[in-house]
Amino acid sequence: MLLSNPLAGRWTASLCLLSVLSTLLTPAVSVKEHDFKKCDQSGFCKRNRAFADHALSNSWESPYNILPESRTFKDGQFQAVILKTINDSGETVRLPITVSFQESGTARVTVDEEKRQKNEIELRHDSKARKERYNEAEQWVIVGGLALDREAKVAFEDKTQTTIKYGPSSNFEAVIKLSPFFIDFKRDGHSQIKFNDRGLLNVEHWRAKIEKPEPEKKEGEATDEAKPEETPEEKEEEVKGEDESTWWDEAFGGNTDSKPRGPESIALDISFPGYEHIYGIPSHAGPLSLKETRGGEGRYTDPYRLYNADVFEYILDSPMTLYGSIPFMQAHRKGSSVGVFWLNAAETWIDVSKAKESKNPLTLGIGAKTSTHTHWISESGLLDVFVFLGPTPQDLTKKYGELTGYTAMPQEFALGYHQCRWNYVSDEDVKDVDRKMDKFKMPYDVIWLDIEYTEEKKYFTWDAHSFPDPIGMGKQLDSHGRKLVTIIDPHIKNVDGYHVSAELKSKEFAIKNKEGSIFEGWCWPGSSHWIDSFSPAARDWWATLFKFDAFKGSMKNTWIWNDMNEPSVFNGPETTAPKDNLHFGGWEHRDVHNLYGMTFHNATHHALKTREKGELQRPFVLTRAFFAGSQRVGAMWTGDNQAAWDHLHASIPMILSQGISGFPFSGADVGGFFGNPEKDLQTRWYQAGAFYPFFRGHAHIDARRREPYLAGEPYSSIIAAALRLRYSLLPSWYTAFHQAYVDGTPIVKPMFYTHPTEEAGFDIDDQFFVGNTGLLAKPVTEQDKVSADVWIPDDEVYYDYFTYDTAPTAKGKRVIVDAPLSKIPLLMQGGHIFARRDIPRRSSALMKWDDYTLIVTIGRDGKHAEGDLYVDDGESYDFEKGQYIHRKFVLDGAAKSISSSDAEGRDPSSIKEGGWLKKMHEVSVGKIIVVGASSTWANKAVTVESEGKSWPATLEYTPAAHGRAAFATIKNLKARIGADWKVVVA
Ligand SMILES: *[C@@H]1O[C@H](CO)[C@@H](O)[C@H](O)[C@H]1NC(C)=O
Ligand SMILES: *[C@@H]1O[C@H](CO)[C@@H](O)[C@H](O)[C@H]1NC(C)=O
Repeated sequence: MLLSNPLAGRWTASLCLLSVLSTLLTPAVSVKEHDFKKCDQSGFCKRNRAFADHALSNSWESPYNILPESRTFKDGQFQAVILKTINDSGETVRLPITVSFQESGTARVTVDEEKRQKNEIELRHDSKARKERYNEAEQWVIVGGLALDREAKVAFEDKTQTTIKYGPSSNFEAVIKLSPFFIDFKRDGHSQIKFNDRGLLNVEHWRAKIEKPEPEKKEGEATDEAKPEETPEEKEEEVKGEDESTWWDEAFGGNTDSKPRGPESIALDISFPGYEHIYGIPSHAGPLSLKETRGGEGRYTDPYRLYNADVFEYILDSPMTLYGSIPFMQAHRKGSSVGVFWLNAAETWIDVSKAKESKNPLTLGIGAKTSTHTHWISESGLLDVFVFLGPTPQDLTKKYGELTGYTAMPQEFALGYHQCRWNYVSDEDVKDVDRKMDKFKMPYDVIWLDIEYTEEKKYFTWDAHSFPDPIGMGKQLDSHGRKLVTIIDPHIKNVDGYHVSAELKSKEFAIKNKEGSIFEGWCWPGSSHWIDSFSPAARDWWATLFKFDAFKGSMKNTWIWNDMNEPSVFNGPETTAPKDNLHFGGWEHRDVHNLYGMTFHNATHHALKTREKGELQRPFVLTRAFFAGSQRVGAMWTGDNQAAWDHLHASIPMILSQGISGFPFSGADVGGFFGNPEKDLQTRWYQAGAFYPFFRGHAHIDARRREPYLAGEPYSSIIAAALRLRYSLLPSWYTAFHQAYVDGTPIVKPMFYTHPTEEAGFDIDDQFFVGNTGLLAKPVTEQDKVSADVWIPDDEVYYDYFTYDTAPTAKGKRVIVDAPLSKIPLLMQGGHIFARRDIPRRSSALMKWDDYTLIVTIGRDGKHAEGDLYVDDGESYDFEKGQYIHRKFVLDGAAKSISSSDAEGRDPSSIKEGGWLKKMHEVSVGKIIVVGASSTWANKAVTVESEGKSWPATLEYTPAAHGRAAFATIKNLKARIGADWKVVVA
């Protein structure tokens, strides 16, 4: 849902207007770009860009040098002190550095500031904030993978450098140069990632403020505001990035940041020699392959920004910040992927530039190679960077997930369709929509309630007039296995007689202002306070609010949506909390801003796990704000988009970017949040949404009702078909989620990820593969388009999913697929086997015991196809105790046999079957469709062999015709899904 009203800021002055204004807001207003900072309005960003300009345009020597005698290396860790020379008389500041080499092959570079470690600094304004650089991001983000590599060793050391060999088969190398400080990370002897190559390392050390005497006022110069002329020295300082004007306080949009610690930014250049493409650092509304940011034709002029914000109708093709941040970047070139993870939760900017390197002795091949240079700038905290040397995209997502965790295994219903709007006006309205979806044969699993269900925006309450009977409503939904999601945000209405507010205040669980008293700001309920989810006691208290006897009217099928958790503060700077606010532990909001949303989301996730003693269900919580690690606790969506074709188009690269950045459970509001989509747009959006990992229709309060059955014919039927397609493929979606849970593989995969050596695919971001199915989708995102040109990444056969047509294709060519409004461009790559459930039902819960259909796509070689299916009870944690079925299906084309075996090679007798597994004995593979079966399959008998028995099945063969591939349909298989079996055609 939305916010950040363009009128924010005025509200403090005219509070009584609030309710009137918010209802008058028209959705046509687009984001006020000037409500959000540009780099040159963000003091530390501007300073570091100026520093970079100075460094790159002069003969420049980085003033950071490792003290040679400070070096030690022990148990996989290199430690030393970097001396930063701070003035012409050689005065230095000590910056301890640790380079850790981990068993996984990941390296980590951490730089701190000694004076601050020792608390030897003074804060201004009697601030109660902590003195250290923020060093707890790891505590929230990192869940594993930190074991040190005891095999790592110093391969060479002299006065100028230390070289450490590490990683699998010791083929990684970190060359640490002392003077100036520089690190070259190599794989197999070749440079992959360089730190401080361009000398942009900048750690703004703590310094005392020296009060300069007020400039003398000349006679006749009246006002204070008239700035004195800059002296030449001041101009020079500004050029060097030492412009002091934003060191001690900084104002923006009527708010002043008191900056009790003065300037404290950290910045570093990270170069990727020979890498032309970089990806990641979501969330931004732009192409998957990131653009250059230093101006010029087709480039951005501002760096990519990561500062979770409620941006309200975001603009497209922009490096502007959005609702969530993942500072994980991947660089890619033909056959190699490497990456960095910048573990810092403060406001961060990333400049990107590319350069043709004319002579690079380490790069093989001919001609100039393009290299990508990045410049990372954070406002505060440690410099803490993880380095991944690949070499495959899969290595990166796996290693990154080892550190930050993999996607939680969701409940199966969460992969179904979600019906949302701001707002369903009453419990009767909800029940009516529920009935209509059935009437129009549109499957769905979840209906959602936005803020209006509450009594005056007080969470954990219901509006007694419009929702008098939440339990009756919940029961009707439950009768078809459906769920309800209600919104609960982190702002708590500041009003007497509301127990949640009273407890929040009396227990001091709220975020504090810079003076240390409870912070008050404005959000949906008017005056509000915000829960400080960094506090363990506050999180424990939060959990008590969700107990069924505390949140009356909630039920086992009630789940939660956390919105506005950037946090959105209508009257705050950039619509969020002031940076000098204080959190649990004495940390400034500045240090933890990008983490806040995740800690709140996580607090809700954990609350749902404990709302009943012995709770067994996996929680479902949707979040708007997120950070690295949020994937462990729920799903995200891309925020408040618009009902416009370009927003539909933009959703696909955004979701692909989430996928490769460790948080694949993502979707965009189907139909567009603001505005009213034309029927064709709405239809196309459902077709695209059926391929989002998270599939939810949503609409703004001012938008016309647009439940899919209201679209009218032919639109409603086409949308119903898209919904049913999603539901029939649920077994394959669930299997893809399981893969993400196991090793971080994205659920929808871009071309560079699946075909890392096909250069022409590196910037393609409008088509993708679904899991391991070989399904290649290219949703139509342009009006009046009736065909799609799908780029073919390899020499495989591709079949149209719906017609089995095959077009002559070749690697690197585009094939035109017919796509009238009724059709989604969807191809099947040869060589796969994937599972479907073909009986249309009202919800995923009702499909639980249905038989499966397997689709086998014969590949170019005609010999081999394979795939897998993962299934568990779809709701509990019993899968962690072996209560799941994971099958591997293999086609032996020559022998014309298809077999099913345990994908993990488990011995069936080792699995103690609980109730669900026992019930699955009744579930079978009923049908197999072999697409592309040669004529040798015609008129053949079929035998099924399983569990020591064998029985016949039937086969129908349909020969090829008019561009359509031949196919064989094997029926009446009755092959148990959980058992080993073999189907032989002879
Ligand atoms: C260098 O910095 C030190 C410590 O801040 C200071 O005492 C000294 O006067 C400075 N020297 C120059 C030449 O600025
Ligand atoms: C999530 O909540 C649990 C339980 O309160 C806590 O142990 C954990 O540190 C939290 N993690 C994050 C990322 O907030």
